[in-house]
Amino acid sequence: MSGFDIVYERRQSNSVKWDTLQDVYNVNDTSDLLAMWIADMDFPPPPAVMEALTRRMQHPIFGYSTIPNTLKSAVVQWYERRHHWQIDQDTILFRQSVISAIADVVATMTAKGDCVAISTPVYPPFFQIPHNLERALIRCPLVERNGHYIMDFDALRLAFDKAKLFILCNPHNPAGIVWNRQDLERLVELAIEFNVTILSDEIHADILLDGESYTPLLTVARADEANIIACISPTKTFNIAGIQASMMVVPNKATFNQLKSYGFAHGQVEYNTFAIAAVEAAYSSGEQWLDEFLSYISKNADYVIAQLTKIPGIQIQKPQATYLLWIDYRQTGLCEEEIMQQLLDHNLALDPGTKYGEHGNGFLRMNIATPFSIVKEAVSRFEQAMNQTIEPLTSPSNM
Ligand SMILES: Cc1ncc(COP(=O)(O)O)c(C=O)c1O
Repeated sequence: MSGFDIVYERRQSNSVKWDTLQDVYNVNDTSDLLAMWIADMDFPPPPAVMEALTRRMQHPIFGYSTIPNTLKSAVVQWYERRHHWQIDQDTILFRQSVISAIADVVATMTAKGDCVAISTPVYPPFFQIPHNLERALIRCPLVERNGHYIMDFDALRLAFDKAKLFILCNPHNPAGIVWNRQDLERLVELAIEFNVTILSDEIHADILLDGESYTPLLTVARADEANIIACISPTKTFNIAGIQASMMVVPNKATFNQLKSYGFAHGQVEYNTFAIAAVEAAYSSGEQWLDEFLSYISKNADYVIAQLTKIPGIQIQKPQATYLLWIDYRQTGLCEEEIMQQLLDHNLALDPGTKYGEHGNGFLRMNIATPFSIVKEAVSRFEQAMNQTIEPLTSPSNM
């Protein structure tokens, strides 16, 4: 048995994933509802992280903390080793979350009324934050071909003519794509031509399945001529989102200074005591754990795909990255409300595709970073929920 097979009861641990189901899904009795939605894992972090936190707890003083150089070196070495990206540690700005970094970038790189371009379906804060900050949104939907998504460069060209900022998700949540170098280079060329800043959210960079690799946007040709801010983070990789930590890599000096000053002016803080201990331990000693985790979720993905695609009308492409399955149910003839209700009736909570923008209609997002026994139960509930649709309307007993 693998450590990833252990089921931890997360209810009543102030978990967003397990303790907010009633409000999010509007279900009264959530005691048996399986939470396969928001992107965190039901696994403890690497043992080295637990040890570092325990060690830190043993020192009973929790005053203001500073980020040591050893943490910065651990980050730099991780990216160099795993992604062949040489980050200059002096270009890193530390933030508590990628969401707050996105908000800072939108606030500093654009003004009220400016256009921000995004490619939907995509992680909801990409459109919610610019909207809340009164920026105009230009959506350049990804183009879907036989279950694969590609960027629409014609739409992007038109959008870049008006936009000040483009927010990229690489690897992509929810579709699980790692963008290839060629496409990223085209994107950077467009950004240079139209003077558009790119925020590249690379939080899912480490969750690569079956030996895939990802291309950090800042490593592509001519990236140094563009204004690029890359957001990176250990929180998805090592399941420490509740501890909160992220980084912005900002090689453009003027942009770096602007973001740094904005952070000061708006009371942004860096890491808390526990984040410092956890992040350094994760990047220094979490590699073996991560490799084991990746092979575990790859098997989870294979199982779910093999089982669910037997259901008429269900298609799933194995993601290249992320622990999220993007389930295509368009051929079932069900609308989103119907399929969500049927799944909830069978105690299964997934994310509805339209949460990621209207272009997510016809899809569901399923989080499979959970022990195999839960995955198996979820598959069985999904099958039963769909049987409800497939069964003839008049059963013999009604005749
Ligand atoms: C693409 C993307 N960016 C950012 C986040 C959230 O990051 P943080 O918890 O650091 O705000 C998520 C979480 O799911 C995500 O998928």
